[in-house]
Amino acid sequence: MFAYTFYCALLICCTQVFSIEIPVDLLDKPTLDCLEKINVDKMVFKDFFDEHFHLVRENAKLNEFLECAGTSKNLINEDGRFNHDSIHHHTEIVLIPILNKNGDKHEIATKVTDECINVSGDTYADRITNLHDCIVDALAKH
Ligand SMILES: *[C@@H]1O[C@H](CO)[C@@H](O)[C@H](O)[C@H]1NC(C)=O
Repeated sequence: MFAYTFYCALLICCTQVFSIEIPVDLLDKPTLDCLEKINVDKMVFKDFFDEHFHLVRENAKLNEFLECAGTSKNLINEDGRFNHDSIHHHTEIVLIPILNKNGDKHEIATKVTDECINVSGDTYADRITNLHDCIVDALAKH
């Protein structure tokens, strides 16, 4: 019995090593509220991302989540442009901690937000996905 429990613990531990870990305590309230609202649990949430922390495209549940989170975080202004302040804030308080970046979080967030602020996309979800992927790639460089 002990051996079996140990084996299961080992399995769980090692499954986690090979997928990206997104600690729930690093997610902010708007994100958590949206996950709850559209009924996405932690395992489904993990599947929104590939091993490079890019968003996996063409996932209906993901699109629904992006519309909810993007709207509640005001990522896009009424004039259709990205909202610099909201994106900067999201980058500084969510993305940089998840990616465990060292250095001046505020300054790094400013650089990558400036770099990605003009990305485009056909649909709302596409634009948010392109923005997210751009910021993640830019963070890898800075
Ligand atoms: C984004 O667009 C604005 C307004 O057109 C422009 O001033 C800025 O230089 C552009 N930034 C990048 C990184 O392309």
